[in-house]
Amino acid sequence: MRISNSISRATVYCKRHGLAATICRAQLAGKRALFADRMLVFYCDLDERRLPQVNFPTALRVERLRALTELSAEHVQAITGFWNPKLANQNIRERFKKGASLWLVECEKKLAGYGWTLQGKTIAPYYFPLAPDDVQLFDFYVFPKFRGRAIHWILTSHILHTLAAEGRSRAFADTREWNQAQRASFTMTPFRLLGSVRTYHIFGQVLNCWVASKTADREQNDPLGRDGAMKILRSNE
Ligand SMILES: CC(C)(COP(=O)(O)OP(=O)(O)OC[C@H]1O[C@@H](n2cnc3c(N)ncnc32)[C@H](O)[C@@H]1OP(=O)(O)O)[C@@H](O)C(=O)NCCC(=O)NCCS
Repeated sequence: MRISNSISRATVYCKRHGLAATICRAQLAGKRALFADRMLVFYCDLDERRLPQVNFPTALRVERLRALTELSAEHVQAITGFWNPKLANQNIRERFKKGASLWLVECEKKLAGYGWTLQGKTIAPYYFPLAPDDVQLFDFYVFPKFRGRAIHWILTSHILHTLAAEGRSRAFADTREWNQAQRASFTMTPFRLLGSVRTYHIFGQVLNCWVASKTADREQNDPLGRDGAMKILRSNE
């Protein structure tokens, strides 16, 4: 990440939450960088016959956008407003320009979350090159009010089925090892852990060190998505 971006993010965070909260946030970022800096990389083979079927709740609707012109002002505000609006707007423009798709999920007509996909390449330097039919899933977000209802799982499953129907071959996604919510959600999706990797930047070179993972088996999914189904049921009660 560029230093100017880090400064911009810290400034916006400080304006929004105050100095004390910014110092706490910086300490947390430091702890994570020192003690939980690995990325967990996941893959999913996009074979429609093998992807578990998901009963799509009627209250949810997913829309795929391929250009900035398709994004309403209201949705731009929702997606950029909670973070750093300048950087978030810049990201959206760059992503569409690179050919990425933005997937919006609405719950009872209210924007509940979103995620991005990019085919044949990755949005930033990755751990390995992607083949033309591979797809990267990145930057998923569920708005706080909608969390814990398995919306990430539903959105991810919908995207994987759509990509499989289009004939794509493999999907990749990653998450930081400290992100328990994202890891918990991945265990319900058809994604499988490929490995964990630590990245070093040395004199302008990027060095990726793969770490043998003893947790790989435990990170495997519940193939029937039972936990997810239970959550949906709970949220509908
Ligand atoms: C990670 C994220 C996308 C998961 O979305 P989600 O739809 O809430 O996912 P799930 O409903 O499957 O919940 C996942 C876990 O988050 C926990 N959780 C996090 N916040 C919660 C909340 N406000 N209410 C209830 N549960 C919450 C749940 O307990 C669940 O863990 P469990 O399966 O052990 O019970 C969402 O938490 C999020 O947007 N986080 C911030 C952005 C982020 O980290 N994105 C991923 C990296 S790009």
